[in-house]
Amino acid sequence: MAALLLGLLLFAMQSPPIPSRPVADGGGGPPLPPTSSPADNGTTSHPNGTLQQLPHILIVGVRKGGTRALIEMLSLHSSVAAAQNEVHFFDWESHFQRGLPWYLSQMPYAFPDQLTVEKTPAYFTSSKVPKRIHQMNPDIKLLLILRDPTERVLSDYTQVFYNRLQKHKRYQPIESVLVKDGEINLGYKALNRSLYYVHMQNWLQYFPLESIHIVDGDELIRDPLPEMKKVERFLKLEPQINASNFYFNKTKGFYCLRDHGRERCLHDSKGRAHPHVAPAILQKLYQFFHEPNKKFFELVGRTFNWK
Ligand SMILES: *[C@@H]1O[C@H](CO)[C@@H](O)[C@H](O)[C@H]1NC(C)=O
Ligand SMILES: *[C@@H]1O[C@H](CO)[C@@H](O)[C@H](O)[C@H]1NC(C)=O
Ligand SMILES: *[C@@H]1O[C@H](CO)[C@@H](O)[C@H](O)[C@H]1NC(C)=O
Ligand SMILES: *[C@@H]1O[C@H](CO)[C@@H](O)[C@H](O)[C@H]1NC(C)=O
Ligand SMILES: *[C@@H]1O[C@H](CO)[C@@H](O)[C@H](O)[C@H]1NC(C)=O
Repeated sequence: MAALLLGLLLFAMQSPPIPSRPVADGGGGPPLPPTSSPADNGTTSHPNGTLQQLPHILIVGVRKGGTRALIEMLSLHSSVAAAQNEVHFFDWESHFQRGLPWYLSQMPYAFPDQLTVEKTPAYFTSSKVPKRIHQMNPDIKLLLILRDPTERVLSDYTQVFYNRLQKHKRYQPIESVLVKDGEINLGYKALNRSLYYVHMQNWLQYFPLESIHIVDGDELIRDPLPEMKKVERFLKLEPQINASNFYFNKTKGFYCLRDHGRERCLHDSKGRAHPHVAPAILQKLYQFFHEPNKKFFELVGRTFNWK
């Protein structure tokens, strides 16, 4: 398959998030057990002064939008504690059935003045999720990171393609999933995930627009600082993230992070080349998203620089 670099995507880091505060456990002995089981005030406390809290912030999507980059950049802030894994609490029945105490147990230990954030990109496109989150906390702050819908589809395909390649499974060439009988194949799920207005309507039934901050994923990759400043403002965090937290890696062609002097870059799987797509099909895709994008811009009262 011919590979053509269509865009840079960086979405997983080579190392797990570093706790945003230096670990002051002293000694380094075995961790003490929590003093309490999940309490109904939504916290469990630990003798070292940290506690698990239900998230105050959720990064809800979109898949391949840059959610990993966003959570890593957000955890540069000392007032933020990030869950390491995608918890899939609200979208997977087997997890949701375990209830909030289980969800709480998946959260990082944080200081009481820190805000806890979890990210699961599949939340955005799952129609039962907004209601469930609203039931947990109607005032929760939501972050949504979006990219050009066409680029996102190609990136989505690329990820599935590599996953299948790794498992030595068969894969279909991109043209045959994108197009059916000469028309854009509406049955292809990756296309649906890029119909942002469809999913956004669902969220706006439960949350006001003021509770949802949209991060421009294309901008975050190109120049992270201005986007992160907007995120800090939205979350009412003390301005802390600054230019010295980012440095441009010329080999990679995008920014890496500097956190307390430690440097780290996103995982190489995140900068993969997209497949080559015949220009005529690409053109069809851009056209396909034209109207849905317009609807989305109207819905959120803001435009994006999408082709
Ligand atoms: C406090 O204890 C928890 C649970 O053992 C641990 O995960 C966390 O790193 C500790 N934090 C500090 C600052 O010591
Ligand atoms: C929540 O409950 C825990 C355990 O019972 C307690 O230690 C903590 O102080 C409580 N936090 C708040 C904010 O009430
Ligand atoms: C797209 O996804 C939404 C939400 O899951 C669903 O309601 C809708 O029917 C889907 N549309 C198509 C064309 O598959
Ligand atoms: C940027 O932030 C770092 C870490 O918080 C701090 O040490 C440094 O002084 C800041 N630099 C500027 C230019 O504000
Ligand atoms: C820059 O990226 C290259 C290629 O991924 C990597 O090998 C190198 O360690 C990075 N350098 C820095 C300073 O981040």
